[in-house]
Amino acid sequence: MAKEKIVFFCNECGFESSKWLGQCPSCKSWNSFVEEKVSASVSKSIKNQTVKRPEVVALKEVTNENADRISTGMGELDRVLGGGIVIGSLILVGGDPGIGKSTLLLQVCITKALEGLKVLYISGEESAKQIKIRSDRIGEINDNLKILCDTDLSNISDVINKEKPELVIIDSIQTMYSEEIGSAPGSVGQVRESTHILMQLAKGLSIPIIIVGHVTKEGVVAGPRVLEHMVDTVLYFEGDRHESYRVLRGVKNRFGATNEIGVFEMRNDGLKEVLNPSKFMLEGRPTDACGSVVTCAMEGTRPLLVEVQALVCHTNFSMPKRTAAGMDYNRLNLLIAVLEKRAGLMISDCDAYINIAGGMKLNEPGLDLAIVISLISAFKNISIDPNTIAFGEVGLIGEIRAVSQEKARILEAKKLGFLKVILPKVSYEVLKKEYKDINKELEMEFVPLENVSDIIRVLF
Ligand code: TYD
Ligand code: MG
Repeated sequence: MAKEKIVFFCNECGFESSKWLGQCPSCKSWNSFVEEKVSASVSKSIKNQTVKRPEVVALKEVTNENADRISTGMGELDRVLGGGIVIGSLILVGGDPGIGKSTLLLQVCITKALEGLKVLYISGEESAKQIKIRSDRIGEINDNLKILCDTDLSNISDVINKEKPELVIIDSIQTMYSEEIGSAPGSVGQVRESTHILMQLAKGLSIPIIIVGHVTKEGVVAGPRVLEHMVDTVLYFEGDRHESYRVLRGVKNRFGATNEIGVFEMRNDGLKEVLNPSKFMLEGRPTDACGSVVTCAMEGTRPLLVEVQALVCHTNFSMPKRTAAGMDYNRLNLLIAVLEKRAGLMISDCDAYINIAGGMKLNEPGLDLAIVISLISAFKNISIDPNTIAFGEVGLIGEIRAVSQEKARILEAKKLGFLKVILPKVSYEVLKKEYKDINKELEMEFVPLENVSDIIRVLF
């Protein structure tokens, strides 16, 4: 009989403690500790698995894993995965409920099945009928796509061992349970144990397994952060449920670059890739509006044009209100302080609101300059030329600092017909070295800036 002991886990990040704590020392969330019984022995399900025993091999003889990638059939998804699904890897797709995780993965299954791959979709959330209704919306299916509606992992691992599929989806990890663990499905212990078993299966049988994990605000089920460190790749599906587009972001990737994004649009017949997200983000943009500036942010290796909107108006309260949607609130306060001190713009008695149009969440220093310009434009009620983009970091001294990949940003703007670029002087010097006559070659006008005080002098 295995000895049982009681431990406390943080539901958010999986931090383990021998006693209950009010705040998690690791992820700082409150009231997230839950009591769980864990068994001291290694679980039988792992021991019993008929997986190959690993052997010692010379590293030189190991083949490059890049060769063993399978394309998902969706360019945007491949991009986030770093070129496709690596055979034998465990991939976690996280996101809020209803964002489209099941839809995306079912689409991948349908496409791969049509290409002749043996695919097994395991659902613990929906019945076979519900999956059929969903697949009918997406498209044609063939015999290679098998589904299994089960939540018992010992049964699931038997089926995988017997059927030997070439791609497995687990929807979702929070519904899976292993009998070895006494606690309820969705608890930290269960989620960890289930992931461990799936990891063994993926590595042992060389089958790529994609698991779905719901992000939870608070409550009874453990969030996907608990298993981030166990899996090979972590992707998060983001986006406003009221907007039609969704962003898939790579957070961790053992086989590729992180921070890559893929953009999708939710339609009636499933998710469609958005091949030109910049154009998509700028659709319906007002021209000649005060406080509207377009910037080019880098998301991984992809330049993305987005509109920054500012509203500045006189406050009726002693404490002015500041709101930042889509960007860091503290960064906004800092930029307003820099504007006051270094450019002499008195907006301390004004409310200021910033919004990244389209609901994108950006966290990039290159955004600063566009935010500063949109604030000045909104404050002074002067619009700036709608064919202009601005990018650059703003420092505490008021200096405008260079940001990476200036060329990629400018070329993206050019592709969409922008004619004028406001950029840090240092970035401009770098570009000038590359082009003989930059204005002529790119057919664009450049406004290099050194300090925030230059902005008012040059642009307004
Ligand atoms: P779903 O994939 O079930 O989300 P998750 O698995 O992340 O919880 O997505 C469900 C939402 O997507 C639901 O609001 C309906 C919508 N949807 C479409 O708009 N079009 C479609 O073709 C499908 C299948 C779903
Ligand atoms: Mg789902």
